[in-house]
Amino acid sequence: MKPTEFNSKFPKHFLWGAATSAHQVEGGNYNQWTVWELENAKVKSAQAEYQYDDLDSWTQIEKEAKSPNNYVSGKLANHYRDFEQDFDFLQKMHMNAYRFSLEWSRIEPERGRFDPKAIAHYKDYIFELKRRNIEPIMTLFHFTLPVWFAEMGGFEKRSNIKYFVRYAKKVMGEFGTNVKFIITINEPELYARQSYYTQEWPPMQSSAFKFLVVTHNLARVHCQVAKAIHKMGRQYRVSIAKNTAYYYPGDNSIVSRISFAVMQYFSDDYIIKKYINNCDFLGVNFYQSNRVFGCRIHNSELRQSDVGWYMDPASLEFALERLYGKYKKPIIVTENGLADATDKNRKWWITETIIAMQNAIKNGVKLQGYLHWSLMDNFEWAYGKWPRFGLVQVNYKTGERELRPSAQWFGRIIKKIRNI
Ligand code: BGC
Repeated sequence: MKPTEFNSKFPKHFLWGAATSAHQVEGGNYNQWTVWELENAKVKSAQAEYQYDDLDSWTQIEKEAKSPNNYVSGKLANHYRDFEQDFDFLQKMHMNAYRFSLEWSRIEPERGRFDPKAIAHYKDYIFELKRRNIEPIMTLFHFTLPVWFAEMGGFEKRSNIKYFVRYAKKVMGEFGTNVKFIITINEPELYARQSYYTQEWPPMQSSAFKFLVVTHNLARVHCQVAKAIHKMGRQYRVSIAKNTAYYYPGDNSIVSRISFAVMQYFSDDYIIKKYINNCDFLGVNFYQSNRVFGCRIHNSELRQSDVGWYMDPASLEFALERLYGKYKKPIIVTENGLADATDKNRKWWITETIIAMQNAIKNGVKLQGYLHWSLMDNFEWAYGKWPRFGLVQVNYKTGERELRPSAQWFGRIIKKIRNI
């Protein structure tokens, strides 16, 4: 698609941007993930072959995936220090929005002690965005916890919620004048599931009971924080970022038609219902669709990204239409993207995504923004560093960054659509 071929349906103040999270790009953090990474890097590297060798990308990733260093976030691209050069890339792509997260463990390294240096850093960070006319979209919790809070049981305990609420109020007091959009929690259900049920993330537990407790506590966290923020001012726009997949039946059998609806309900609506009354918009993280045959998901006709996820970007349209039809809240796509180290699919993905969004808008969805995941290559949690989600390619050895060709093209498209 050439920039001139766009028949833009996007509203004038549409937010075009990219997203990151603190632990995935900053480098040099100390939180419950850092501790876990150091404890598990060796085992993860030893397991890499049987875990990943059926991926199409295996020969390309093998060396990195077998190295323990891959599983330790370490310095990364040192975005904490070099964020200004990364913000310059947002400008080069003509973006007007950026989603990032605050690292709670830096702001409150010990219980009750807030670090003025970390607060000054994020003030500066937000200031640099505003100076570039980029709308900051601030996430308060994106999977990482201060070690002291994790050791107290994290969100397993209802009595711990107050510590997060205190931190949220503190950062709103510090940064609130310059931020309008706030994401309280990133993907609450995924966090609870991977950490407390499937044992993939710290604290690697496998308890259906704890999974449910954490799921409920996170909803309480959101509601308390959203209410507190709204008390500070009605100008704030608060939401969560909900991971969503679009489910559909692969055939006409009654079993497929029932089970796809059940899957969609429990992965989306069961969760969203707990939050939506305290959301001004709905943040949607979209990566995939799921075709359901009988009681199983079977997508194998689709191509796969480097991490083996089936790629169906066009189905974003149906996900948006479904969610808007049901909840009638404006939507911002708070994450969407793919792992694509050689950049062979990203342009196609973004093209399909833009068309999907145009169609959804034409069909009445109040869509307010699109944030690509990710601005830059980053630490992809339990996978480590090898998956490359960035519009900006990062060389971790030298710290050098460079816009991928698809990102240069995306920048030209944004310029055209925004008519600037
Ligand atoms: C998360 C990101 C992650 C991305 C790609 C989302 O689930 O919010 O932190 O990097 O997906 O896996």
